[in-house]
Amino acid sequence: MIFLRRRSIIILVLIYLFSNCTTCSCINGCDLALASLFIWPESDLPKISQLFDNMPSSDILDWNTEITSTFILTESRVNVPFRCDCLNNGEFLGHVFSYIVSANDTYDLIATRLYSSLTNKELLMRDNSYPENNIPDHVTLNVTVNCSCGNKDASKDYGLFITYPMRPGENLSYIALVTNTSSRLIEMYNPMVNFSAGSGLLYIPGKGSSGKTIAALAVAALAGVLLLVGIIYVGIYRKKEQKVAANIPASSGQYHPPSPGLSGIHVDKSVEFSYEELAKSTDNFSISNKIGEGGFGTVYYAELRGKVCSSCFCLPMMQMLLRVAMSLLILHLKLQKAAIKRMNREGRTEFLAELKILTRVHHLNLVSLIGYCVERSLFLVYEFIENGNLSQHLRGKDVLTWSTRVQIAMDSARGLEYIHEHTIPFYIHRDVKSANILINENFHAKIGDFGLSKLVESGNPTLNTRFMGTFGYMPPEYGHSGVISRKVDVYAFGVVLYELISSKDAVVKEDGVDEARSLVALFDEAYSHPNQIEAISRLIDPKLRNDYPPDSVYKMAQLAKACTEKNPEMRPTMQSVVVALMALS
Ligand SMILES: Nc1ncnc2c1ncn2[C@@H]1O[C@H](COP(=O)(O)OP(=O)(O)OP(=O)(O)O)[C@@H](O)[C@H]1O
Ligand SMILES: *[C@@H]1O[C@H](CO)[C@@H](O)[C@H](O)[C@H]1NC(C)=O
Ligand SMILES: *[C@@H]1O[C@H](CO)[C@@H](O)[C@H](O)[C@H]1NC(C)=O
Ligand SMILES: *[C@@H]1O[C@H](CO)[C@@H](O)[C@H](O)[C@H]1NC(C)=O
Ligand SMILES: *[C@@H]1O[C@H](CO)[C@@H](O)[C@H](O)[C@H]1NC(C)=O
Ligand SMILES: *[C@@H]1O[C@H](CO)[C@@H](O)[C@H](O)[C@H]1NC(C)=O
Ligand SMILES: *[C@@H]1O[C@H](CO)[C@@H](O)[C@H](O)[C@H]1NC(C)=O
Ligand SMILES: *[C@@H]1O[C@H](CO)[C@@H](O)[C@H](O)[C@H]1NC(C)=O
Repeated sequence: MIFLRRRSIIILVLIYLFSNCTTCSCINGCDLALASLFIWPESDLPKISQLFDNMPSSDILDWNTEITSTFILTESRVNVPFRCDCLNNGEFLGHVFSYIVSANDTYDLIATRLYSSLTNKELLMRDNSYPENNIPDHVTLNVTVNCSCGNKDASKDYGLFITYPMRPGENLSYIALVTNTSSRLIEMYNPMVNFSAGSGLLYIPGKGSSGKTIAALAVAALAGVLLLVGIIYVGIYRKKEQKVAANIPASSGQYHPPSPGLSGIHVDKSVEFSYEELAKSTDNFSISNKIGEGGFGTVYYAELRGKVCSSCFCLPMMQMLLRVAMSLLILHLKLQKAAIKRMNREGRTEFLAELKILTRVHHLNLVSLIGYCVERSLFLVYEFIENGNLSQHLRGKDVLTWSTRVQIAMDSARGLEYIHEHTIPFYIHRDVKSANILINENFHAKIGDFGLSKLVESGNPTLNTRFMGTFGYMPPEYGHSGVISRKVDVYAFGVVLYELISSKDAVVKEDGVDEARSLVALFDEAYSHPNQIEAISRLIDPKLRNDYPPDSVYKMAQLAKACTEKNPEMRPTMQSVVVALMALS
């Protein structure tokens, strides 16, 4: 009956449209299409987001699971989701984006480079009143990107289409390969296209929401049984612990299931926690759960009832339920340990997009941000690192061997190198110190707290507006010019190296001397001593009891000296630091 009604509505609409449109090719649009944007070297997520009506970066990342961090390879492609509208009274399907012109933009540049031929110059000139050779700065242009909602005559199975601009050198077999779609299917949906032309738009089909009813019915019986099992399980084992099932967002139906060609869609809601969840996991933020206190907030130990794997939402219903059932069993046995940082400030919304991205930055030597919560105040949920901070290990009773110290230096250097060199845009940590270096059960180190670092435009170091950093770790330029560059972290890392050598605090209060002095000053003094080697030896941690290769220690001291040069330009990059440390171990 529904079918009948829908059909008659379509006929009515058709009749209506034919009365004032003779070249109709669409009646409705569809909620979702994807644009395949080719990435130029100067591109990054914020710039991409600007091209597509300031779409949140996290929405873009949801459709690009292969991007595991903010690192986007140039000359790769990024899928950008958008609404596919029926434009110009049914003339064609597309979406009009607003683009704000910057200096020296031409229609050609905007079409072929910025939008990587998702649109073309002719279309831009048609949709915008400004003459080609005189586009004023900062005006808003209409940029139309074509799209497709499928073709019921070809197949009902495909409801999500990627608008794919071909590039020179690409051919059908190559495109089929990179989009994981069969050549036959691509040809079927693009009958008029010359695949050897190296230009023009393709519509690559993916599995959409339409036409899945039969499959859905087929699994419904089994799914129902599984659901029942799940409910019974929850009922019996978790009279109070409700969360698991509730973690599937009510809106999960809003996104379409993935196309095989999209290598899985990641609807990642699991990074957002509710206040109740966090309170429960920390015993109501009790004192006994408190594990530390920093300049920005208090850190609590938490045991989270794990979230159901976030990728569940993109699997067909059957697999999804299977996973839920399995997760329930696993969760019954396993809790996730976490460290929750309760910040002294509120979660501002512009902070959120940033946080969502940070949850995707993963590296062996970085403490992962699992999620966050913005109720009442801002909470950051980090993976729990078993063995505490480096600061405590250096001052504590048990002695870190020299090889462990070298290992810790190496690990932290790698973590910093990653955020400096391998994310786009790069991050500056701005608060590197031994208290922020966490040690795991195997005495490997991970850099913590980097979620607080400010996102920095790649290329130009920006002016620091918010004061950040810890006394003893801040380079001389920090106070003067306020210019923040990656070399700020290199300096602080140098101080950490001195700490590893001496087990002294970054700021040292000597007996009989009123004024506290920085560790850097102490070492600098030793370097200017007539008998340098001996002066340095006096600074080496006595707890090491000569159980160290002197050569290795002096080399590390040399490296620390280079890192703490007054002139930031003279300091090595973290990349060189990693190389130098490799030679030590
Ligand atoms: N993920 C974690 N796992 C285990 N312990 C942690 C974790 N994060 C923080 N801690 C503990 O909490 C302490 C305080 O952490 P926090 O990052 O708030 O402080 P900080 O680095 O000293 O201060 P600031 O906020 O000024 O950077 C750490 O030194 C560490 O002992
Ligand atoms: C625009 O072009 C002029 C002249 O070619 C050049 O001097 C200027 O730097 C360019 N501006 C930008 C923002 O690229
Ligand atoms: C988008 O569709 C319109 C209308 O069919 C067409 O004129 C235009 O060339 C298409 N755009 C691109 C980039 O192919
Ligand atoms: C963009 O499109 C709108 C609506 O069609 C139109 O009013 C506006 O003038 C267009 N902008 C330009 C720069 O032509
Ligand atoms: C298609 O392109 C790939 C590489 O771009 C090339 O290796 C292959 O030979 C091409 N195939 C055809 C049929 O031209
Ligand atoms: C397809 O494009 C290529 C390269 O532009 C051209 O040589 C060829 O003739 C075109 N084929 C057809 C059928 O138009
Ligand atoms: C490609 O698609 C097939 C199904 O069509 C799927 O089994 C396979 O996992 C996909 N490969 C990738 C890398 O996404
Ligand atoms: C380092 O860890 C110890 C033990 O967990 C804790 O007491 C101390 O506060 C931490 N140091 C800092 C600076 O947070």
